[in-house]
Amino acid sequence: MSQDTSVSQTAERLRAQLRRYNYQYYVLDEPTVPDAEYDRLFQQLKSLETDNPELITDDSPTQRVGDVPLAAFGQVSHEMPMLSLDNAFDADDMRAFNKRLKDRLELLDSELEYACEPKLDGIAVSLLYEDGKLVRGATRGDGSTGENITQNVRTINSIPLRLLGEGYPRRLEVRGEIYMPKAGFEKLNELALSRGDKPFVNPRNAAAGSLRQLDSRITASRPLEMCCYSVGIVEGDLADTHTGVLQQLSGWGFKINPEMRAVNGVAGCMEYFADLSERREALPYDIDGIVFKVNELRTQQRLGFVSRAPRWAIAHKFPAQEEITEVKAIEFQVGRTGAITPVARLEPVFVGGVTVSNATLHNMDEVERLGVRAGDSVIIRRAGDVIPQIVSVVSERRPEGTKPVVMPDTCPVCDSAVMRLEDEAVARCTGGLSCAAQRKEALKHYISRKAMDIDGLGEKLIDGLVERELVHSPADLYHLKHLQLSKMERMGDKSAVNVLNSIDASKQTELPRFIYALGIREVGEATARTLAMHFGSLEAVQAADEEMLQQTPDVGPVVARYILSFFRQPHNLEVIQAIRDAGVSWSNIEVSEQTVPLDGQTWVLTGTLEQLTRNEAKQRLQNLGAKVAGSVSKKTSYVVAGAAAGSKLEKAESLGIDVLDEAQLIERLTELEG
Ligand code: IVH
Repeated sequence: MSQDTSVSQTAERLRAQLRRYNYQYYVLDEPTVPDAEYDRLFQQLKSLETDNPELITDDSPTQRVGDVPLAAFGQVSHEMPMLSLDNAFDADDMRAFNKRLKDRLELLDSELEYACEPKLDGIAVSLLYEDGKLVRGATRGDGSTGENITQNVRTINSIPLRLLGEGYPRRLEVRGEIYMPKAGFEKLNELALSRGDKPFVNPRNAAAGSLRQLDSRITASRPLEMCCYSVGIVEGDLADTHTGVLQQLSGWGFKINPEMRAVNGVAGCMEYFADLSERREALPYDIDGIVFKVNELRTQQRLGFVSRAPRWAIAHKFPAQEEITEVKAIEFQVGRTGAITPVARLEPVFVGGVTVSNATLHNMDEVERLGVRAGDSVIIRRAGDVIPQIVSVVSERRPEGTKPVVMPDTCPVCDSAVMRLEDEAVARCTGGLSCAAQRKEALKHYISRKAMDIDGLGEKLIDGLVERELVHSPADLYHLKHLQLSKMERMGDKSAVNVLNSIDASKQTELPRFIYALGIREVGEATARTLAMHFGSLEAVQAADEEMLQQTPDVGPVVARYILSFFRQPHNLEVIQAIRDAGVSWSNIEVSEQTVPLDGQTWVLTGTLEQLTRNEAKQRLQNLGAKVAGSVSKKTSYVVAGAAAGSKLEKAESLGIDVLDEAQLIERLTELEG
C-alpha cells in the first residue's frame, strides 16, 4: 500500500468517525464521546488536510466553517414545487377536513391514520443530495423559485454534508424547517445587547436573518438547526408511510421531530393537539401549530392537491402569540408605593388566545429602549400566561407628528411632585395616602392578612368603596354603615353584617401589625416587628430621628429615610389619629433588656416542625429579639432541626454551630417568654 493511499484512508476514516459523532451530538442530542475527543480527531483531520490539500473533499466535516462572501444569491427553480398548507383554527375545521377526506376516499367505517408533527416556526428549505452528497440548499421562495443558500446550509451542524448508512435514493431532496432554538436565541440577543447591537425580535426573525447572509461565516456563528418534514424529488425507493420515510431520513443522518406520532382518526389528532398545546411553552423551540398528514403515501397520492396545497394535510394553528396593533395613548398609572408606570393603551387585539388592550411599559428606561410613541404600530406578544409585552415598534409605520413620551413632573392623579431617584429605574408620586390611586392599593395592603387581617373585605369591595368615595383612608373603614355596605355589588344583608363584624374584631390588634399595615416603603412584616420591639410604641417610632432609626437591626439609611418621610407628612399623622379615635388599639411593648433576650442572635429553622408551625416558631423567636435567617453561616447562633433536616443541618454541624431539636426549642421559648 502506498503512503498516499494510507493517508487518504486515514482521512476518510476520520471523516466517517467525525460524521457519526457530529450526528450523535447535533441530531440525536446524545453525544457518545467527550468534546475534547471530538476536537482532537477534528484537529487531526485538519492537519492531514492542510498537509495534503488535494485530499480535502466538499463533504469533509472541516468544510462547515463558511466561505468567502457572495455578491448575491443565485436562483434555484424547484423541480417539484414547494407547497403550503391549508389551515384549521378549531375542532370544527379539523372535523370538516377529516370528513372531506373520508368522503373523497369513500371510507365508511374505518378511520384514517394521521402523522402528527409540530409546525415549527422557521424558514422552509430544500436540500438536494446526489449519491449521498449534499449538492444544493435552497429557500422555498415563492414555492417554484427560491434562493441558492448552499454555502449557508453547509454551516448548520444538524444538516449532513454526506448521508450516513446506506440504501438512500441516488437523488434525494429533503425538505424541512431551519429554526433557532429558544436558548440559542436568548444567548444571541444577550450578545447583541452587550455589543450595543439591536436584538432580534423573535427566534423566527433571527433564523431568517441568519440564513439570508451573503457571508456564510456569519451564518456559521448562529445557533441554527434543521428539522426535516418531507421529501421532494426521489430517484429510488422509500418507505410507504410518511412516518416510515421520516424514520429512514433519521437513519441517514437527518434530524426529525421527536414529537412525531401516528394517530388514529380526528379524535387522535385532537388529543395530540391538546397535549402539545399544553407543553408548547416547555418545548425548546417555537411552534405555531400542529401539522396533520395522512400517513399512507398511497392514500396521499389518491387525494392529490388543490392549487398550492395538498388535500391530505392541514396545519391546525395555535392562536397567534404575536400581532400588530396600534398604541392609542401612553398613560401613567400609580401603584401603592407611588411607583408611576407607563402603560400603553392599545387598539384591542386578539393575541395568545385573549383580547389585549393594555400593556405595561414598566418604566421610562423600557420606553426609551423600545422608542415607542403614541400613534405607533407595535408588535405585541402574549406567550403562555405571561403578561402581554410590547416587543418592538414597526418604525416604518410611524405616522407624522408623533412625539416622544415624557414622564410628567407631577402625579397624573393627585398632582403631587414626581421624584426619580438616581439609582432607581422607577419614578414615584410623593403624595402618599393623599393620592387617590395610591389609596386603593394602600387600603388593600391595610386590610391584608399579615396587616390588619380584615377578612370579608376583599379587593373588589375596596375598589367599589373607593370609587363611590365611601372610603378615602383606612380610618373611614371604621365608619362604614350597614346600609352602605349592603348596597354594594354582590353584597347582601348578611355579608354586610359579616364585614362590619370583622372590621370590629380587627380593632384590637398588635403594634407590629399596625406598623406594617401603614404601608411605609420597604417596611415589610419583619422590619415592622423589629421597629415595634426596638421602640415599644408607635409614638417612639414617630419621634425617632434618622440616627435612632438606624440603630434598629435591619434598618439602614434608605429605610430610615422612608420612615422619617412617612411620619413627616401631616396627612399620614391625621389618618393614624383618626384610626385610633375609631377605637383601634394595641398594647405597647415594654422595652428593656429582658424583653429581647435573643437580641443580636441569628437563628435558622430547618426540616419539618411537628408541634409548631414554621411561622409560629419564627414569630416567637423574633418576638424575643432574634433574627431568623434562611441559610446557615458562621454568624448563625443556633439551628433548629426538625424532621428530615438536610443540608442546612449538615452545614451547621460542619461549622460547629449549636443544634436544637423541636422539643428543646419549645422549652427555650417557654422559659424566655416567662
Ligand atoms: S409540510 C406539502 N410539515 O409550514 C407539505 N410544513 O404552511 C408542505 N412547516 O412552508 C409542508 N413545520 O415552512 C410541513 N412539520 C411540518 C412543518 C411545516 C413547519 C411550515 C413550512 C411550510 C409551511 C406551510
